[in-house]
Amino acid sequence: MNSFGKTQVAIVGAGPAGLLLGALLAKAGVESVIVEQHDSGYVLGRIRAGVLEQVTVDLLDAAGAGARMRAEGLPHQGIELCFGGARHRIDLHGLTGGTQVMVYGQTEVTRDLMQLRAAAGLPTVYEARQVSLHGFDGARPSVRYTHGGAAYELHCDFIAGCDGYHGVSRQSVPAGALKTFERVYPFGWLGVLSETPPVSHELIYSNHERGFALCSMRSASRSRYYVQCSSDDKAERWSDDAFWDELRRRLDPAAAEALVTGPSIEKSIAPLRSFVAEPMRFGRLFLAGDAAHIVPPTGAKGLNLAAGDVGLLARALEEHYRDKSDAGIDGYSERCLRRVWRAERFSWWFTSLMHKFPETGAFGQKMQAAELDYLVHSQAASTALAENYVGLPL
Ligand code: APR
Ligand code: PHB
Repeated sequence: MNSFGKTQVAIVGAGPAGLLLGALLAKAGVESVIVEQHDSGYVLGRIRAGVLEQVTVDLLDAAGAGARMRAEGLPHQGIELCFGGARHRIDLHGLTGGTQVMVYGQTEVTRDLMQLRAAAGLPTVYEARQVSLHGFDGARPSVRYTHGGAAYELHCDFIAGCDGYHGVSRQSVPAGALKTFERVYPFGWLGVLSETPPVSHELIYSNHERGFALCSMRSASRSRYYVQCSSDDKAERWSDDAFWDELRRRLDPAAAEALVTGPSIEKSIAPLRSFVAEPMRFGRLFLAGDAAHIVPPTGAKGLNLAAGDVGLLARALEEHYRDKSDAGIDGYSERCLRRVWRAERFSWWFTSLMHKFPETGAFGQKMQAAELDYLVHSQAASTALAENYVGLPL
């Protein structure tokens, strides 16, 4: 080792979870260093979901990163479910006693958090290689990495593993100490981003016999659309025209007619997976966000769950330093997991309801149609969807 450093909390990963945690800790007067394996351009290049729950909006505000979201984000008070050739509105706002969601892309959230961190002069090591975690089962944890060919060791009180599903943090936990739960869905989402006005001012989730489709947006002039595709499909196989034709077929006639098409800015396929690792803490290592759990994107819970985790973690660490209380730290895993499993259930249910599975068949389709009919005509059922969609309290 030719260089040493010291901080209170070493954060592995500069995705939305790591950056938001760093910002919340800074507000609480707790020091952090973020160690990220890629450069900031790579981190910003990944396009992910774009619906923020009120809890996430509040955390971004609390972190001091909410200004542009407040100015440019689109508050939504409802969603539409499309099936049987017609759309049905779910009044999220009315059914939840006044809660709404904010449509604002994860890329923009990440950009705002990066700018905030840079403006505050808080340390982030981009392009760190060979990142490894040490000593978190004892009193002296550290994170080692190389950067520009030199080796570093960052000593810290705690490590926050915010390095996503493929990160090193979860893999550093001793075998046998982790229990994992997983379901891989037999299809993917083909997504297209285009500089075209959204087809509707609210999101449309469509159940169609050809497969699921989703109409979302990033702004009044930029749209994000998805169609369910097979797991082994390739984005390159889809021309823009083929994508638009397929999307149109899966919408009701009015939406199909209103759809404005244009060249794709981005086109990619995402697999769908449910995954949870338990517990979320080992000694002085905490897992947060995608490092600990994955949800399928139906319902856009991924970023919101990550934000919830780091909201609880920041509060727990603040209590540790300020009040000398470890109650939050000791309860972190259990508190997060309760919320995580509820979001896992919702995401799994919404995915199961809206997609065509290999085994769906004619009977399965009738069951989905009957459930959707019940959902949009029963206030109790609509309310259950609405309160999960806008997000459960922290
Ligand atoms: N060392 C350092 N950094 C790493 C390592 C490593 N070994 N492995 C991964 N990383 C970095 C990645 O490059 C990435 O920038 O960790 C970051 C993890 O970011 P995300 O994958 O975005 O995960 P998270 O911050 O938990 O975000 C939550 O919200 O919409 C959802 O699933 C979506 O990314 C999303 C999530
Ligand atoms: C998106 O805008 O990318 C998005 C929106 C809602 C979802 C999933 C993705 O449920």
